[in-house]
Amino acid sequence: MTSQGILNGDVRKGVIDKNIYGHFSEHLGRCIYEGMWVGEDSKIPNTKGIRNDVLEALKNLSIPVLRWPGGCFADEYHWKDGIGAPENRKTMVNTHWGGVVENNHFGTHEFMMLCDMLGCEPYINGNVGSGTVQEMAEWVEYLTFEGISPMAKLRAENGRQEPWKIKYFGVGNENWGCGGNMRPQYYADLYRRYQTYVRNYGDNKIHRIACGPNVDDYNWMEVLMREATPYMDSITLHYYTVPGPRWEEKRFATGFAEDEWFETLDKALHMDELITRHKTIMDKYDPNKRVGLIVDEWGTWYEVEPGTNPGFLYQQNSIRDALVAGATLHIFHNHNDRVRMANLAQLVNVLQAVILTEGDKMLKTPTYHVLDMFKVHQDAERLDLSLTATSTYKYGDKEIPEVSVSASINAEGTIHISLCNLNPNTASNVSLQLRGVATDNAKITGTTLTGDTMDAHNTFDQTDRVAPKAFTAFKLEAGSLSIELPAMSVTMLELKA
Ligand code: AHR
Repeated sequence: MTSQGILNGDVRKGVIDKNIYGHFSEHLGRCIYEGMWVGEDSKIPNTKGIRNDVLEALKNLSIPVLRWPGGCFADEYHWKDGIGAPENRKTMVNTHWGGVVENNHFGTHEFMMLCDMLGCEPYINGNVGSGTVQEMAEWVEYLTFEGISPMAKLRAENGRQEPWKIKYFGVGNENWGCGGNMRPQYYADLYRRYQTYVRNYGDNKIHRIACGPNVDDYNWMEVLMREATPYMDSITLHYYTVPGPRWEEKRFATGFAEDEWFETLDKALHMDELITRHKTIMDKYDPNKRVGLIVDEWGTWYEVEPGTNPGFLYQQNSIRDALVAGATLHIFHNHNDRVRMANLAQLVNVLQAVILTEGDKMLKTPTYHVLDMFKVHQDAERLDLSLTATSTYKYGDKEIPEVSVSASINAEGTIHISLCNLNPNTASNVSLQLRGVATDNAKITGTTLTGDTMDAHNTFDQTDRVAPKAFTAFKLEAGSLSIELPAMSVTMLELKA
């Protein structure tokens, strides 16, 4: 069956906030150390300690915002341990992630430098679980106070006279779990208290982010919105796609059969229901949609690669992950009335990473290529596009929609249509009627990403096995666009009128 739909080129559904294409980097495994930070004395070519190969690849993604330092690590992190001369910095044990020694060589100054190099907004996550109000308040003062103050003086002593601008600040992470095992009422009160001291200095205006629910904890959302809405600008949601019957029996990133392919994509699509239901609660307390929903941890979470430290969460990344990324980003687009930021977990070498490294080698994962192809949607206006009939992908007695689509128009009037075919077995035909689009002299070009097996992935010996290729299997006739999507593919079409 052919999936049918109408693209209404003259019906705009709000801006797709570029921050939906945000990332997350935690002091976890080899995300920061080795993955990005190698230090100035490393043999790996670097700029002020950040490895050049990774930096160049990341710059190409136009990353809008980067979250740091955690994750669970955030609620154990004491920022003053990460400033001053590196050789004098205190070490700590990273209890959450492998029990390794953290030398604190990557701290506030290094993170702000990285954001500067990437041209992205920093999103700093403060410590509520084991930190004090004073500690959080002083971090904000250290970062943003201009003038004479104890923290501004300390910052200057550490080589930075000018304050930085900080927009996004999170007050705790997963405080229902690793961030203190709190109950929602208790955290709501703590949130109100801590955020009071997250001050706006000078013209720096902070967007305060409350820790939101885990997955489908609708009660957490209800309590937080009831008790703390006026004190927050956004609230978070965490949802990972974890194939397997239970947490202790997660499946692997590669070497799987079709049952796990199906299960993974089915679970990824669950994001839509979660956002829809959390939004309903938010609508009750914030009908004007002032408060944003930030999905600041999402992505696939598999069993770690055999032989690697279980606490380092290192996993391969295949064409299946590319489809999870494409379909999830489409879900975020569709909820752009509330979802104002999302942060894929995590940037390098951890979970659904866009880059993997091994010594001085690096590779771009299939997920990287999706974010590269989709970056054209950043800050573009979403166009009305819905499928009126969708073919389904069936496995056993279950089925999911075979195709996921989204479209946007940018400031120059260029239209981008992204399409995912979730079926690993067959091509999928899509027919879109282009209404409100000038098609007479339209020029369409395409790119697609697919694999030759369900777990096709890149390795350090074969870095381009899964890479985007030119796509021409489409036809525009009498205002109707027919597309034949390859099996298990993510495709981007560009239409210039
Ligand atoms: O991303 C890995 C971990 O997942 C984070 O530290 C935590 O917030 C979540 O449970």
